[in-house]
Amino acid sequence: MSVRAVVGLQWGDEGKGKIIDFLSTEADVVARSQGGPNAGHTVVVNGETAVFHLLPCGILHPHTTCVVGNGVVVDPAVLEAELAYLDAHGISWKGRVLLSHAAHVIFPYHRMLDLAWEKKRAARSIGTTGRGIGPAYVDKVSRVGLRLGDLRNPGWFRERLLANIEEKEALLEWLGFGEPLEHEAVIASCLAFGDKMASWIIDTSRYLNEALDAGKRVLFEGAQGTLLDLDHGTYPYVTSSSPLAGGVGTGCGVGPTRIESVFGVAKAYTTRVGNGPFPTELPDLEAERLRGLGEEFGATTGRPRRCGWLDAVLLRYGVVLNQVTHMAITKLDVLDTLPELRIATAYRVKGEVTRHPPMDPWMFEHVEPVYETHPGWLTRTSGAKRWGDLPAAARRYLDRIEELAGARVDMVSVGSGRDMTLHRD
Ligand code: GDP
Ligand code: IMO
Ligand code: MG
Repeated sequence: MSVRAVVGLQWGDEGKGKIIDFLSTEADVVARSQGGPNAGHTVVVNGETAVFHLLPCGILHPHTTCVVGNGVVVDPAVLEAELAYLDAHGISWKGRVLLSHAAHVIFPYHRMLDLAWEKKRAARSIGTTGRGIGPAYVDKVSRVGLRLGDLRNPGWFRERLLANIEEKEALLEWLGFGEPLEHEAVIASCLAFGDKMASWIIDTSRYLNEALDAGKRVLFEGAQGTLLDLDHGTYPYVTSSSPLAGGVGTGCGVGPTRIESVFGVAKAYTTRVGNGPFPTELPDLEAERLRGLGEEFGATTGRPRRCGWLDAVLLRYGVVLNQVTHMAITKLDVLDTLPELRIATAYRVKGEVTRHPPMDPWMFEHVEPVYETHPGWLTRTSGAKRWGDLPAAARRYLDRIEELAGARVDMVSVGSGRDMTLHRD
């Protein structure tokens, strides 16, 4: 099974970066298919922490080729910073980083619009990362967006960008952000980026299909998580792309039957950064305890993450939507000192018990989780090297997750380091 997709099963930040880094040892190509620099994927190697927002985090393994697929929205400034990080760490990337000609560009006005719309929405704000993701996808869907391939034709690029800028300036003024945009500087820096990357802006769909035909091992790196999916997440408190395994096909230009296995990543509890429903969220003081233990602060924005118990209703939903074949449970060690743990096994909605999440956003107000309680293991797990080293209560907790979610737990993570990952077999 050498064509794998890794997806988040919760609201993002499940520890996908760590699992992708682990699986990258068995991959020739690592590709991202959606999202943009709203992602923050953390990898800890030999005590050093690296966070990737745009480049697949498989880049840290020198044998990989890393693809930024057509479904990704690319902020050239963020990509430049990541390439500079690689340069500074002596990691060669030329020829190893391939960018889709059809990936859309995030411009400074997208970031400004993101912030301006959020301010305008006030109490109804989404709590976006402010990285311009939504506005960039809006332009893509409106068919006025500019793509990396457009940087190869300065005349074409300039004409369309200026038309967009005129429109965005009017919109920003209406939103109360009336400063003129420095378009010449934007044009110059984008074209310089296009020149620098020209050899590596290619048809990545063709590249991936040829790599797959040649039997290469490909790992698709999901960003965000199932509950942030534009269609299937907790709309409207979602992101603007499809983080599901099904999104890989369109986001990378490969057929859906290419994917042989889907790794679903979930924390042993639940977190969410940004606004929107969160049925198993803990009240302030308890959430603070979990946040402290798990160091739950956003890898992209530094915002404190909201924390709560594991929600098996939502986990099962994610397993079904992604047709997860293998599950990885991360941050088990964070629960080591808790005497008692809870898992939501069902919801009570207006008196009725259900094992499915409600369809409409306003119904979440009526959701009351039905919990079962598990004894904690009160033992340090981060030293465990094999599955059998885990305390019996921790193994029972994992078995119960497997039973409730409906997918096999194959991997468990007991610390942020690369080697702190246990494989069941
Ligand atoms: P991603 O967006 O899904 O890649 O996750 P993030 O990188 O945003 O957040 C996960 C955080 O948890 C990072 O700081 C990781 O270093 C850390 N982490 C990952 N796995 C574990 C684990 O098993 N235990 C602990 N304590 N931390 C972990
Ligand atoms: P990774 O890949 C956690 C959340 C934001 C906000 C909503 C919309 O690191 O798991 P956006 O900026 O996308 O328009 O914000 O989605 N969000 C994430 N939360 N992890 C992420 O990525 C996220 N990417 C977006 O906080 O609630
Ligand atoms: Mg993250």
